[in-house]
Amino acid sequence: MTTKTQEQQTNRQDYFGQYGGAFVPPVLESKLNDLANAFNKIVFTVEFQNEYIQLLKTYVGRPSPLFFAKRLSEEVGSKIYLKREDLNHTGAHKINNTIGQILLAKRLGATQILAETGAGQHGVATATAAALFGIKCKVFMGSVDIERQVMNVDRMKLLGAEIVSVNQGQGTLKDAVDAALSYYIEHPDAYYLLGSAVGPHPYPTMVAHFQSIIGKEAKNQILEIEGKLPDSVFACIGGGSNAIGIFKDFINDKSVKLFGAEGAGEGLNSKRTAATLNLGKNMIFQGSNSLCLADENGNPMGSYSIAAGLDYPGIGPEHAYLQSIKRSEYHGITDNEAIAAFRLLSEKEGIIPAIESAHAVALAMKLLKNKNELAIINISGRGDKDVERI
Ligand SMILES: Cc1ncc(COP(=O)(O)O)c(C=O)c1O
Repeated sequence: MTTKTQEQQTNRQDYFGQYGGAFVPPVLESKLNDLANAFNKIVFTVEFQNEYIQLLKTYVGRPSPLFFAKRLSEEVGSKIYLKREDLNHTGAHKINNTIGQILLAKRLGATQILAETGAGQHGVATATAAALFGIKCKVFMGSVDIERQVMNVDRMKLLGAEIVSVNQGQGTLKDAVDAALSYYIEHPDAYYLLGSAVGPHPYPTMVAHFQSIIGKEAKNQILEIEGKLPDSVFACIGGGSNAIGIFKDFINDKSVKLFGAEGAGEGLNSKRTAATLNLGKNMIFQGSNSLCLADENGNPMGSYSIAAGLDYPGIGPEHAYLQSIKRSEYHGITDNEAIAAFRLLSEKEGIIPAIESAHAVALAMKLLKNKNELAIINISGRGDKDVERI
């Protein structure tokens, strides 16, 4: 990369430090440029904001509550609040982004929506938004994920979406993204509704923007209830959208520690892991310069986590950057630790979290033990989809 390019990167909306960019074939370059321009021109208008906020209120059910988890707090020895994204329509944070992007897609005249999905929550949220606006929807999903998230597959079908089973690679989220990107390259007139803060610009910026409602609400809520900022905020990390969504409004509040829980699978040293921020190498992966799990030859490698939504070898560029400047910290949580937290939250609070969100609960339980701190955990989704397997 030339010095000039590096200079150009400074202060650009498409880069977070050295991370980000749009590394795509020429056929998508102009599409993504148009999308970035449309995002900047349309999304911040009063008309768009009014429609978006109205749908978040009346369709999604926002604001999501901030709930004081008394029995969990007693167990851990810190004062813990839960941000209840599990109570959103469709059961996870993913709908905040799909409603935002579908409104943009509609204004761009899209007649077909494409999406990838891992846990199925983004697929369900996209199929829901597409049904709401009467737009055709095609969802790419790995064959392994289709088996482990059956309930969400059935929901997507009911919502009228076409599911494309992806058998290549490991049949998980990485392969679904590859397949969706390949289809998009061949059908650039479709609208690709990416579900996490990953991929080429403008997706990481756009998805983070639509998810930042989580942190904005949480900050107002904790200030209203407690009269002060939290000491720490916890979220699980797949591609990074729920985490960046809750972190965003706290980034400039230096006293607030930001923690991400990655899927460590069978352990950080086991090679059966999805802990990209702990173990990944800097490379260009799925259109963006960020971190990715790599094999001995430095090539992108498959991942493993019990949680389909965390089972991804890449990571959004903003998290790679926040880690590099030490603004946020990322820890691996094993499958077993997540399962224990899944059970504990169910028993202590009557809240069955998504197995993805249970990783955030497990990390908070570890780091907050007898600390007497004030903390918020983002419960990114509900666990109905996981009950049968756990
Ligand atoms: C409930 C839930 N939480 C978290 C994630 C991880 O995604 P992200 O890191 O983009 O929030 C997923 C992904 O499918 C999910 O379904």
